[in-house]
Amino acid sequence: MIHGMLTVRVPAKINLHLEVLGRRPDGYHELRTLLQSIDWYDELEIEDRPGDTVELVVEPVGAAPAGADNLVAIAAARLAAAHGGRRGARIVLHKRIPAGAGLGGGSADAAAALVGLQTAWDLPGGVAELWSIAASIGSDVPFFLLGGLALGVGRGDEVIALDDLATLGVVVVDPEIVVATAEVYRRLTAPREWRRPGFAVYSVSDRLGSAPRWAELRNDLEPVVVGHWPQVAEALSALDRDEALRVGVTGSGSAVFGLYPDRVRAARAADRLAGRFRCHVGITLARTAARLRAGRSEEVTGS
Ligand code: C5P
Repeated sequence: MIHGMLTVRVPAKINLHLEVLGRRPDGYHELRTLLQSIDWYDELEIEDRPGDTVELVVEPVGAAPAGADNLVAIAAARLAAAHGGRRGARIVLHKRIPAGAGLGGGSADAAAALVGLQTAWDLPGGVAELWSIAASIGSDVPFFLLGGLALGVGRGDEVIALDDLATLGVVVVDPEIVVATAEVYRRLTAPREWRRPGFAVYSVSDRLGSAPRWAELRNDLEPVVVGHWPQVAEALSALDRDEALRVGVTGSGSAVFGLYPDRVRAARAADRLAGRFRCHVGITLARTAARLRAGRSEEVTGS
């Protein structure tokens, strides 16, 4: 018997900048954030199955919950529901991006599941249909349908593609703790008055461009995360700033990143950590390299 097996590889993100304008009536916070894909990947293997059950296997076991609250399971359920339900699949999630680290791992997996299942189930609608489902799963999910460098506004779920920067070197330091996003926002004393109500989004994206003004980028969640999770503070102070364009917390943590002009300098910075932390050395990804593709490979099984 021949099964069509699809593979989708999805890269992590870092937030180069994250500005909180204020708390919205719906309880979320209004953001202006810059998101950038990096070469650290999760991979999903997706197989169409008869019936209406979506089986999820996480490898290694325990790297993420494998139940109905996994964002992959939620993505599958919402996509099936949008097409009248009754769809079956088996999904193996190869988890490499740490969870609860501000690297968008769970959101990335959800976006990859949407793209992969749309192909596996042969559904119409293209990426246009996936945008609204993506935003309903989580604020970060739509970014992964775009990839590369983007400006995120609203909850961070409305994303605007920006031109790729030159490839940069990156070190991500993983303090190996889970920081819950909701808790960070809860501890944030959001400005009572919204910052600059007439704020033009371009004042954020303009800080990049041909000569990025790295010193003007920041993360408003960083003081909260660093103040409450000493492991994050430790990782941040361990990372070499000498040759870095920017060093900071990504999203709501727990991971911190250093951005360097090239991969060689990033590797040198990682060496200086002398094995004190688990870390990833890599590069930033252009949009074409970060785009999600469902690749089909034919697999022959015994029966
Ligand atoms: O959208 P998502 O489910 O990923 O968000 C997790 C939590 O983070 C929300 O429940 C909310 O408490 C907080 N959040 C927020 N403002 C945002 C994004 C997330 O307050 N822009």
